[in-house]
Amino acid sequence: MAKARTQFICQNCGTAHNRWVGKCEGCGEWNTVVEEDPMGGIGSGPGKVPKKGRPVALTALSGEIEEAPRIHTGIGELDRATGGGFVRGSAVLIGGDPGIGKSTLLMQAAAALSRRGHRIIYVSGEEAVAQVRLRAQRLHAAETDVLLAAETNVEDILATIGEGKRPDLVIIDSIQTLWSDTADAAPGTVTQVRTGVQAMIRFAKQTGAAMVLVGHVTKEGQIAGPRVVEHMVDAVLYFEGDRGHHYRILRTVKNRFGPTDEIGVFEMSDKGLREVSNPSELFLGERNSKSPGAAVFAGMEGTRPVLVEVQALVAPTSLGTPRRAVLGWDSARLSMILAVLEAHCGVRLGQHDVYLNVAGGYRISEPAADLAVASALVSSLAGLALPADCVYFGEVSLSGAIRPVAHTAQRLKEAEKLGFSQAVLPAGSADLPKGAGSRWSEIDSLPDLVARIAGSKRALKREDEDV
Ligand code: TYD
Ligand code: MG
Repeated sequence: MAKARTQFICQNCGTAHNRWVGKCEGCGEWNTVVEEDPMGGIGSGPGKVPKKGRPVALTALSGEIEEAPRIHTGIGELDRATGGGFVRGSAVLIGGDPGIGKSTLLMQAAAALSRRGHRIIYVSGEEAVAQVRLRAQRLHAAETDVLLAAETNVEDILATIGEGKRPDLVIIDSIQTLWSDTADAAPGTVTQVRTGVQAMIRFAKQTGAAMVLVGHVTKEGQIAGPRVVEHMVDAVLYFEGDRGHHYRILRTVKNRFGPTDEIGVFEMSDKGLREVSNPSELFLGERNSKSPGAAVFAGMEGTRPVLVEVQALVAPTSLGTPRRAVLGWDSARLSMILAVLEAHCGVRLGQHDVYLNVAGGYRISEPAADLAVASALVSSLAGLALPADCVYFGEVSLSGAIRPVAHTAQRLKEAEKLGFSQAVLPAGSADLPKGAGSRWSEIDSLPDLVARIAGSKRALKREDEDV
């Protein structure tokens, strides 16, 4: 008889090893490899008795398409991030740092759905019933018909939610606490988490209930164990935010039933999460427009324009190698902008420390922010404040050219709505609104931008001399 072989699985990335190793060969992490029984989980190879296959009906690509049946929470920002509400029979993973507000968000969603007459079951594996009740009271959710269970065993959970009328939505908080009798591994290991999640997904597909799974993110930015879980579920949302700030962003990274570039914005208050339907106002709230080094970027998040301030500080360095510190943007991208400024615009930054910060703890991923970053850098170096009513957007290429970006009209419309009357944008932008004319300055290279900002200095000097 073949010997039952144990495997050593990395808890960080899921790579299987034949023997124990200190450093995972997959992700390079130390001390993440744990011995597990491969017979318990998914991907554990063929069962003991090979089953004879049964042919399934093949079908054509064309045919009737049904709109995915959704349940709307009525919480606009949440519905936006999920692409219009939770889809029946689907599984959604909501990841985030511990303490960011996942349980709060889901308790509020559960209460909202329950008020709309849906049957909601909230399974808490982390907190006792009393704790969850306390939170529900604080969120004014206690008077709703949400059903609560404090349980971590997969079989018991399945028996509980399978009993009685089918639930419309089940919330499992969190997948790291799930454990099954069938998997021979410690709770929280990859095998246990995978087994538990697989069982929950199967329940959702079989019954048509929507399943929401909560997963904690580890320091490395992955849900513990569960990179493996991301591909099993239908949608993955991350709840992120900065502890120092009150606002939280629900970001879609995968969605089989909707767009993946949407965000929902919330603000944490003492009464739970509040929707923020106009994020620009929030991010521009504490703006001090008179100081040098600040430029407003007109960005896009999915279908929604978001205005946010980029702040730069360029100061002479006392170190051999100057410091480059970035918050909220890609540091490789900053190095690129600095190199282009040096090479094509004669802006010498080699003897300067450079600090870049995106206001409000917000994180920008768009290359369109290049122009705003460059403006903030030059403004700080020159000690000249940029016009307070001007927005910037455009991508910078290595040659120093400014490339057009998408959604010009939408960005400008949002800027106008918030009282910005000028914009610096790439020449040749496709959908530039007609008639607005002179207030939009189209530039086609980075030296143009530097000349514009330096030119404002000359204008200022002349004003001074005139006086
Ligand atoms: P929680 O939802 O428990 O986080 P997670 O489930 O992601 O671990 O949120 C915990 C934090 O939110 C905690 O630090 C307290 C804060 N909070 C508020 O500020 N207001 C509230 O109304 C609630 C319920 C929580
Ligand atoms: Mg929680």
